[in-house]
Amino acid sequence: MQHLGLGPTDLPQVLVPVLASFRQEFGEPAVVVRSPGRVNLIGEHTDYNHGFVLPAAVDRGIVMAVRARSDRRYVLHALDLDRRLEGDLMQLAPHPERWPNYLLGVLDQLQKAGKSVGGFELVYGGDLPIGAGMSSSAALECGLAFALNELFDLGLDRLTMAKLSQAAEHSFVGVKCGIMDQMASLMSQKDHVMMLDCQDLSCRFVPFRSQVKIFLCDTQVERALAESGYNQRRSQCEAGVALLRKHAPDVQSLRDVSLELLEAHRAEFDPIIYRRCRYVIEENLRVIAACAALESEDLPAFGRLMNQSQQGLSKAYQVSCPELDLLAEAAAALPGVLGARMMGAGFGGCTINLVQAGQEEAFVQGMAPAFAKIGKTPKIHSCAPHGGTERL
Ligand code: GLA
Repeated sequence: MQHLGLGPTDLPQVLVPVLASFRQEFGEPAVVVRSPGRVNLIGEHTDYNHGFVLPAAVDRGIVMAVRARSDRRYVLHALDLDRRLEGDLMQLAPHPERWPNYLLGVLDQLQKAGKSVGGFELVYGGDLPIGAGMSSSAALECGLAFALNELFDLGLDRLTMAKLSQAAEHSFVGVKCGIMDQMASLMSQKDHVMMLDCQDLSCRFVPFRSQVKIFLCDTQVERALAESGYNQRRSQCEAGVALLRKHAPDVQSLRDVSLELLEAHRAEFDPIIYRRCRYVIEENLRVIAACAALESEDLPAFGRLMNQSQQGLSKAYQVSCPELDLLAEAAAALPGVLGARMMGAGFGGCTINLVQAGQEEAFVQGMAPAFAKIGKTPKIHSCAPHGGTERL
């Protein structure tokens, strides 16, 4: 293991099968990378509206091992899915299966950026629940961009890798995602949350106190509507911006819209578009307030803002589902829970819950009846803020 710079006890458990598989198939890897998933404390569906978000990478993610080949072919092996794909780097196109597209999309973007990527072999696996809304897709994209940057010395900085990974998801996966997940995966710092301004991509790191714990409650509801619903919300926000631009030509995104401006033109709005826009403007204000609350260690205030965010996401933005609503409501009523809300794109996936240290057991037990109500076996993940994508 010496070449990894890690002693056997430092080795992340998830790496063991990935390394074993790589060695069996290809030999020694040249680069091994860990790329984390993320949570988002508050600021949902604000990123693609150039607003604010407060995510953190977590101590779960994807690990990948790569090695260069002498030809122009790629070999991809998704260990957990037990899928393998081989192809020609000169003929990249979206694949009918979903999993390769996160990777092929990154290769395509690297080529478009004029970077010379040679042939390579890759094995990846991880401990991120897939489809739970913890951004396994961004972890995968960013992991590959990072690994190839190391392997072929491409000279890319983290910001460029984040942008390129987001573009990969737009073009090869077809989800018009914002940039939160990629930025969180690549830029996060251990024990901090990241206050990201999605307008200019500046970030500020706020210490995350050890007296609060993060728990995710997984509805296990497949996010069936997520893609179409997500892209539709995005166009509804754009429709709102287009309307307001007629009155205020300087408006580029909902970030530039105040509640006063929106209210002044409310009568011209389709009621659904109005509600979507109002939610986004209010959520941005909540992120700013939540960040201040975290900095002044007013955790009850932080939790209340999370609960308000849940209300907005459920009633005004309508990206929740009955199971998410029920788990969030049940959690918010438990002692020791500061705040609870759905997390990520919505339509399924997880709720995020902030729990006071010392109340962890009570929380897990207290959630059992709510899981019974939605007809699911409890699935609760605890996680902690972690650093961004790294070479092992
Ligand atoms: C998904 C997207 C992000 C963001 C969230 C909602 O995770 O990938 O860009 O829009 O949904 O906040």
